[in-house]
Amino acid sequence: MNVTRNKKMIEEEIIADIKKLTTSLLENSSDQTEVEKIINQIHVHFQEITKITGYDVNIEYLAAVPTAKGKALGLNHAAQCLLDYKRTVQFLKAILQAIKEKQNAHPNELINIFYAGCGPYAPFITLVAYFFDPKEVRFSVLEVNKNSLESAKKLIRALRLTDYVDNFYLADAVTFEVPEPDTFDILISETLDAVLYRECYVPILFNLLPQLNNNITLIPENVLINLKLLPKTSTNQDYFEGDAGTILNVRKEVSSYTGDPDELSQLPEKVVDLKSMNIDHYKSILIETQVHIYNDIWLYRNESSLTLPIEVALEQPFLNSSVVFTYHLEPEIELKCRFQ
Ligand SMILES: C[S@@+](CC[C@H](N)C(=O)[O-])C[C@H]1O[C@@H](n2cnc3c(N)ncnc32)[C@H](O)[C@@H]1O
Repeated sequence: MNVTRNKKMIEEEIIADIKKLTTSLLENSSDQTEVEKIINQIHVHFQEITKITGYDVNIEYLAAVPTAKGKALGLNHAAQCLLDYKRTVQFLKAILQAIKEKQNAHPNELINIFYAGCGPYAPFITLVAYFFDPKEVRFSVLEVNKNSLESAKKLIRALRLTDYVDNFYLADAVTFEVPEPDTFDILISETLDAVLYRECYVPILFNLLPQLNNNITLIPENVLINLKLLPKTSTNQDYFEGDAGTILNVRKEVSSYTGDPDELSQLPEKVVDLKSMNIDHYKSILIETQVHIYNDIWLYRNESSLTLPIEVALEQPFLNSSVVFTYHLEPEIELKCRFQ
């Protein structure tokens, strides 16, 4: 048997296995042990094809890539996102649901998806496309990291999914002008980290959403940053977290902004009054991220690396009256807070 034929057979076996594993992943999506087992098996196939493990000690694979605002994850970290198990399975469920809803709303029409930030494994194509025909669903893929884009192309070719992809763009989604923006039905951009630190989800939305049509479905559809207060007591009976509301609602900020996104260096300050909150009862504030992926699919506190909270101790005795939050887009992307 010659080498090409052998390679073809191996690819066919891998494709059959990935189809089987993805179906099983969705059928078992609430069984965490099973989810981890299946995603690990998928990861083995992806590593085999791309030769990218997510743990390579190559400086090019480790370094984050600067963008117009914020940083794009290095290739290794982007690869490891696949192994953020609950995140991956919830996003897959959400994307399939969103495509089916678009199909119901527009029967027999092609559903076009713009995928900004595909990473080296492009899982939201490589684990989604098999459920559809290329006449039903097509993707345009954009990625700022050249090595990640090359790897995603290699994987898509090996899995024989090229018919599903109209365009591959090596570009920065923070400044990219989308060709034929009205043709897109769904925008996917999982370009975020806990407390929206450094990564580009916010400036990407400021750039892309106004270009796309009003009915676009965005995945994740929103991110909230909430403020909680943690009580001094540690006994279960008295353990009541204080709720100081939402500090940042990304979609609200994007839709209320009317200026030029290039000139946006920070979002409006949010002042939270602590005087009215019986502050002596609490030892710290907790800044938590909630990712609203789609419809009733959410990632809540500690369910993923994207929703790890940050705790800030309150000086005792606490003499301030409020805490002020500002989400900066320049010179670096980060949420800053100060007591006053
Ligand atoms: C968190 S990873 C997710 C990768 C993949 N979608 C997944 O779910 O496994 C985010 C990806 O978006 C890319 N990215 C981040 N900011 C970007 C930007 N401004 N323009 C284009 N790609 C970007 C990163 O390089 C990275 O590959």
